[in-house]
Amino acid sequence: MPAVTASAPGKIILFGEHAVVYGRPAIAVPVTQVKARAVVSAAPGSAAGQVLIEAPSIHQQAYLADLAADDPLKKALTLALEHLQISRPPACKVRIGSTIPVAAGLGSGAAVSVALLRAFSAFLGHPLPDEVVNALAFEVEKLHHGTPSGIDNTVITYARPVFFQRREGGNLIETFPSPQPFTVLVADTGVPSPTAAAVGDVRRAWQQDPPRYEALFDRAGELTRAARKAIEAGKPHELGPLMDANHALLQEMGVSSPELERLVQAARAAGALGAKLSGGGRGGNMIALVEADQVEAVSQALLGAGAARAFMTRVEAQG
Ligand code: PMV
Repeated sequence: MPAVTASAPGKIILFGEHAVVYGRPAIAVPVTQVKARAVVSAAPGSAAGQVLIEAPSIHQQAYLADLAADDPLKKALTLALEHLQISRPPACKVRIGSTIPVAAGLGSGAAVSVALLRAFSAFLGHPLPDEVVNALAFEVEKLHHGTPSGIDNTVITYARPVFFQRREGGNLIETFPSPQPFTVLVADTGVPSPTAAAVGDVRRAWQQDPPRYEALFDRAGELTRAARKAIEAGKPHELGPLMDANHALLQEMGVSSPELERLVQAARAAGALGAKLSGGGRGGNMIALVEADQVEAVSQALLGAGAARAFMTRVEAQG
């Protein structure tokens, strides 16, 4: 059996994080500069059913059977086996690598799941279609934080910009044309921030004051719709003020942090068209919309303001 490799990109949320958990739309785009990769190869010397998992970047090496039931890698592999109705896979080694920073709002968990599901199912001779990969990756996301919206696994599985809305009886997943490419800088506060904590805090705050939070979510949803219109109309520069407004809402939701504020201010002061935190918040990454000729100045300003790293990604023209 030949070795099989699969990879999946990272992602950023352009608009609507947190509100998306409560049924409002959000827009996310893949980030191809970072990726997770899974390689599955046969282990001819081992007994059937033995699956060795190696994740050198997190110093993990264990047999599937020995991992805890709530381990995300175990969950992904087990879901694939159950879906394919395979109880005893051929002996194999699963190697996982990722250049996506963990707990940074870049979708590292979902990307690892997607790469793993694809490589493992292909190795088993039954490559899973995208819909199934997406659905199983969503199940794994539930381990990372209890109430995921599903946007991470969706944008990462399809590797295209998505307008996403969580809905009873089937999520709305729409791809949409982006006639003008645009440039986004992504900068990391260097502060790890597990999404679960921020999502849990927003839930508690919402439970304490539902009208206030519902109003914040509504406004975030309106900004997301306005952003989609601007992108579709080929006017991505109009996203700048919308990003600033979305950031203000996220501040009000209580998910910004001093480090994020410093980077957002620095980007704006250096000429970014708009800036906001991206993802769960509290730490992790922020994003800034920049003209192509501002990339260098804004990157330098972000690094000067304490960013652990900054990189550029372009949302390419589509359809
Ligand atoms: O994984 P992150 O940090 O990009 O956060 C996901 C975005 C949230 O809206 C905060 C949670 C979710 O499940 O959509």
